[in-house]
Amino acid sequence: MTDAMDTAWQALDREGARLRRRHLRDLFADDPSRFERFSVTLDDLLVDFSKEKIDDAALQSLFDLAKAADLAGRREALFAGAPVNLTERRAAQHMALRGATGKTVKVDGEDVLPAVRETLERFLAFAQEVRNGGYAATDGGKFTDVINIGIGGSDLGPMMATRALGPDHDGPRTHFVSNVDAAHLADVTQGLDPARTLVIVASKTFTTQETMVNAKVARRWLHGVLGQKAGGHIAAVSTNLEATAAFGIDESRVFGFWDWVGGRYSLWSAIGLAIAIAIGADRFRSLLAGAAAMDEHFQNAPLAQNLPVLLGLIGIWRRNVLGYPTVALIPYEQRLERFPAFVQQLDMESNGKRVTREGKDVGRATGPVVWGEPGTNAQHSFFQLIHQGSDVVPVDFIAAVEPRDMAGAPQHAILLANCLAQGQALAFGRTEAEVRADMMAEGKDQDEIDRLAPHRTFPGDRPSTSIVHQRLDPYSLGRLIALFEHKVFVQGAIWNVNSFDQWGVELGKALAKALLPALEGGGRPEGIDPSTAGLIARMQRPSV
Ligand code: F6P
Repeated sequence: MTDAMDTAWQALDREGARLRRRHLRDLFADDPSRFERFSVTLDDLLVDFSKEKIDDAALQSLFDLAKAADLAGRREALFAGAPVNLTERRAAQHMALRGATGKTVKVDGEDVLPAVRETLERFLAFAQEVRNGGYAATDGGKFTDVINIGIGGSDLGPMMATRALGPDHDGPRTHFVSNVDAAHLADVTQGLDPARTLVIVASKTFTTQETMVNAKVARRWLHGVLGQKAGGHIAAVSTNLEATAAFGIDESRVFGFWDWVGGRYSLWSAIGLAIAIAIGADRFRSLLAGAAAMDEHFQNAPLAQNLPVLLGLIGIWRRNVLGYPTVALIPYEQRLERFPAFVQQLDMESNGKRVTREGKDVGRATGPVVWGEPGTNAQHSFFQLIHQGSDVVPVDFIAAVEPRDMAGAPQHAILLANCLAQGQALAFGRTEAEVRADMMAEGKDQDEIDRLAPHRTFPGDRPSTSIVHQRLDPYSLGRLIALFEHKVFVQGAIWNVNSFDQWGVELGKALAKALLPALEGGGRPEGIDPSTAGLIARMQRPSV
């Protein structure tokens, strides 16, 4: 670590020691203008971080840390297409996929935009054809259903986005199969007509075990009804065009992308084909435009107004200074139901690292555990712990000012009131004195007050950030996703980890391959631990 970084961390620790002793109630009492001073907007998008335990001095120390980490230089290298993914010697240029017109975007010195545009036009044209019947099922009828078979980044992005954009979904129904549990494909295909179904095999590598076996079983399902014509109902999205050809998929239905697009950053590429089929080309372009607006903001806004920088630094503050190991992401829109799962992969696969880009121990806590569910369901399940449990869990709330459909209007004010109430309760709590006074006013007797007051007390002083946009639509969704992508980048830059590789998933893949023969054919693999051997023996017994 450089001296400048050391100095910046020490300054932050001092700010932390000072602010840890100050309750959020006191911070608001001292400064009623906190909301104005600690909230930032980009068009209709508002991020309010006034309920975080920060003040000007703490924020300045965070900016100093960002400068010491050369965040601006790192960002420049990212957008310049430098090989920021050092272990794989690759760029991370997912920004090139969204709306960059009339510019050059270089990867390894070469302008990638012509190929990006050509592929975008090809897969959007195919999506339109599937939607309007120009590309038809083998019997000439329109496709009614599309199954995307993929996992991780080849599943979560498209699945999350198609659910989020329900009101824009006027194309064929889309379904997603990811788990290699046969039940997943079986349940999805149940009730679907192979003669009306298009299968998209989505895999960057086209070698992922789960996806490839599910694709083969799906092909058999199509073949059962369509015979030799089944191939016409299969499309593929991959960087591995040899493997898609070997699988027998006609190149007219194969859509490529590039190794500089990470799996968890790939929904903007042809991996988004299922989204484009669901919502159509124009709305898909709007999704890209929303992300491009965030790219532009991230590159150009000053640190103090820069939303991904602020969210990233507040995450550093929560994790490294205040020591909170998890963060709950709570969207108050049912259609963002899978957004926490998407961000889980984005954040935890990117920054779940313990060595620096140079392979040395980071020496600090890195990526937090990210988890969450839509509000208000979350309130009726785990919010008990968030309000009164022994651990502090910072919360990121996401809410839209207006519902997409007027049918939602009667509930919407209730939804928003609930969202705001959680942030209020977390920050300000309810002291024992307040509880006692309230119970007294309710006419409760002293014994009852003594018995219940400790249980009804809320400590407060629990941080949250609120992210509010006008409405959830393709543009605002694109912008929101890119906000989180860049936030993750900011944190990776501060921790000096490689946010674009994922070696941590490889060992399990290799071990599973080695164990498979024993589970398929019997016998006991050599040299394995007694626990795994015992479990294999149990799994080899078909009935008990
Ligand atoms: O195992 C992790 C991972 O490599 C993810 O990063 C990726 O999104 C997922 O697997 C799927 O990979 P592919 O698209 O190559 O099938």
